[in-house]
Amino acid sequence: MQPIELDKRPESCLIYGIANPCSIVVFGATGDLTTRKLAPALYNLYLQGVLPESSIIVGVARSEMSDDQFRMRIKEAVAGKDMSMWEKFAAALYYHSTQFDHSYSLSQLSERLKNLEKERNLGGDRVFYLAIPPSLYNVTVEMIGRSGLSRENFDGNGWARIVIEKPFGRDFKTAVELNKTLQKHFDESRIFRIDHYLAKETVQNVLMLRFANTIFEPLWNRMFIDHVQITAAESIGIESRAEYYEDSGILRDMFQNHMMQLLALTAMEPPSELQADYVRDERCKIFRSLRPFSAEDDFRNIILGQYGPGTIDGVGVRGYREEPGVSAASMTPTFATMKVFVENWRWNGVPFYLTSGKRLGEKLTEIVIHFRTVPHSMFRNALQESVTPNILTLGIYPDETVNLTFQINSPGSKICLRSVAMDFNYNEVYSLSNLDAYERLLLDCIQGDQMLFWRQDAVELCWSFLEPVLYHCESCLDMDKRLLTYDAGTWGPEINQL
Ligand code: BG6
Repeated sequence: MQPIELDKRPESCLIYGIANPCSIVVFGATGDLTTRKLAPALYNLYLQGVLPESSIIVGVARSEMSDDQFRMRIKEAVAGKDMSMWEKFAAALYYHSTQFDHSYSLSQLSERLKNLEKERNLGGDRVFYLAIPPSLYNVTVEMIGRSGLSRENFDGNGWARIVIEKPFGRDFKTAVELNKTLQKHFDESRIFRIDHYLAKETVQNVLMLRFANTIFEPLWNRMFIDHVQITAAESIGIESRAEYYEDSGILRDMFQNHMMQLLALTAMEPPSELQADYVRDERCKIFRSLRPFSAEDDFRNIILGQYGPGTIDGVGVRGYREEPGVSAASMTPTFATMKVFVENWRWNGVPFYLTSGKRLGEKLTEIVIHFRTVPHSMFRNALQESVTPNILTLGIYPDETVNLTFQINSPGSKICLRSVAMDFNYNEVYSLSNLDAYERLLLDCIQGDQMLFWRQDAVELCWSFLEPVLYHCESCLDMDKRLLTYDAGTWGPEINQL
């Protein structure tokens, strides 16, 4: 079936407006995140005209560098894009070398910012983006606070917001500590905790599909849904992040954040309005309803794996323990499947299978709703096989799709049921390139919309949920039996326990 866009009503769309001019201060301006994600995102926003020309971007890092040298680095980071706006964009880029753990250094940054804002006639609205290693979060936030940079209404106007990337702590306790530091200097409405999964267009679409249609929601419960699979598979390995990954593993890297958010969007109740805190409240209710894992059931609802050598796209790849920087005896999981239950009226008894892993067959992100089989089959005497249940697949990557399978009779036969699909593919219908996740998040932050960001209560609830598993993995003596090896390029360890 070829879908057509039946209803073209741009006036009914909430379109991103142009942001107010502001200063974007990027700590960690020489790092990977800045060059790979932030610089291209900021330049794209500039190209699309949503980031006003008078805004400034101030890169902050330890290395000594001139503004022009910094501009050259950023130019390399945006190479390949439409360069028609480059000269103007470059003029808005500045660099400031500083020690993050030195309040005097940050006071100098404060002076420089004031001068630049005066030159550009800016009102003093500021975003501080921490693109630095998490080990530096606490000290940097503390210094931002001590130097007065976090203060709002500086010289009579202007807001100050802070953006941090996951991981938000490495367990419940450290998450609370980090939050204490953050809230000492910024109140919750000014803290933007990024999860780039939440900003993916098709992830957001889960809410639109569920709550802007009448046909799905009446079926969206334990009466009609048998189980749900949420998968975020990756074919890449750990790249050059051995140190980080050895410390985090798949549970901290993907489950404490992205997988939990995908689960929440699939399972949450409709909020009464599309407002940041209403939506975030509903997501939190799901985290609060998760059935805890316990040592008593020996964590049998969790499968952990680690990739061995294998082949991906015809190329031999090394196993996890042979990756540079990884211990040859590492017990870090690179794969996990969890059977999770949401203990509430809607979902009682429906298992949610969450799976994520590195070095799997291909990169694939999807949410698959498996409906129940028909309660009674009138075809049971005529057909050997049982009737195949309906499946609704929300594809997030590589194809952004909504696909519903249903049964029809094969033409020409008396009775022969076959599964066919109604298929909607974003790329076939929309050719316009949308804002990518980082562009959207940056814009939301500048516009003060926290809907796509983590709130601290959700962070704490997710750590509480995962902590028993993490501690068990880290302390149990039979981890060598628990951690199943899988060949890189396959779909993970053989699972017959869940
Ligand atoms: C990051 C993880 O948060 O998400 C990475 O740290 C992972 O390990 C990445 O590769 C996956 O994101 P995406 O958008 O490529 O699915």
